Amino acid sequence: MTDRPLHLLALAGSLRRASWNRRLLQAAATLAPAGVTLEVYDALADVPLFDEDLESSSPEGPPGVLALRDAIAAADGLVIATPEYNHALPGVLKNALDWLSRDDQALADRPVAVLGASSGPWGTRLAQASLRQVLHTCGALVMPSPTLFVANAAERFDAQGALADAATRASLERFLGAFAGWVHRVAPSCAAIT
Ligand SMILES: Cc1cc2nc3c(=O)[nH]c(=O)nc-3n(C[C@H](O)[C@H](O)[C@H](O)COP(=O)(O)O)c2cc1C
Repeated sequence: MTDRPLHLLALAGSLRRASWNRRLLQAAATLAPAGVTLEVYDALADVPLFDEDLESSSPEGPPGVLALRDAIAAADGLVIATPEYNHALPGVLKNALDWLSRDDQALADRPVAVLGASSGPWGTRLAQASLRQVLHTCGALVMPSPTLFVANAAERFDAQGALADAATRASLERFLGAFAGWVHRVAPSCAAIT
């Protein structure tokens, strides 16, 4: 039997224009296996700070939250590239996950892959651990392995921001292949909800 085609949504936990994590996902879009498309979500900045007053005054959610929920619902899986801020995931990403954890539980039973890039030597190990903890609480089906920690990011991208390091490209390719397998395994008939 042929695997069904997959559409993945990719979210970088950084608003920075030259974000290594966004660049990593842009590389991922070009390295996805056959039959898999990966779309980099670019509107995280539209998600407001979580506020229960705002939530109760707009039960469907603010437009920036609705757009993110819809994009996740239309995807077969979510790939999150997180920076590391003070040994944890950045607030901008945690904020978005807090919105997604509310009534409609947008991440429950959804396949998710976690990776990350940092300018330092540890490659977001602690950020990914904290992100996994939050995702488990949200009921997401987080791929346990392989992991991908991109350390010393400045050495791995070229002047144009493309992922140039051959070993990292190969690891990313393997990672995406494994995630496609994970999506087929944990959500075999969970075609994107439209
Ligand atoms: C507030 C702040 C805290 C940071 N804390 C860490 C840290 O704990 N560990 C680490 O490896 N890098 C840390 N960094 C460096 C980031 O990993 C680095 O800026 C990275 O490039 C951010 O990701 P981005 O390029 O996708 O924006 C920190 C950066 C900022 C701005």
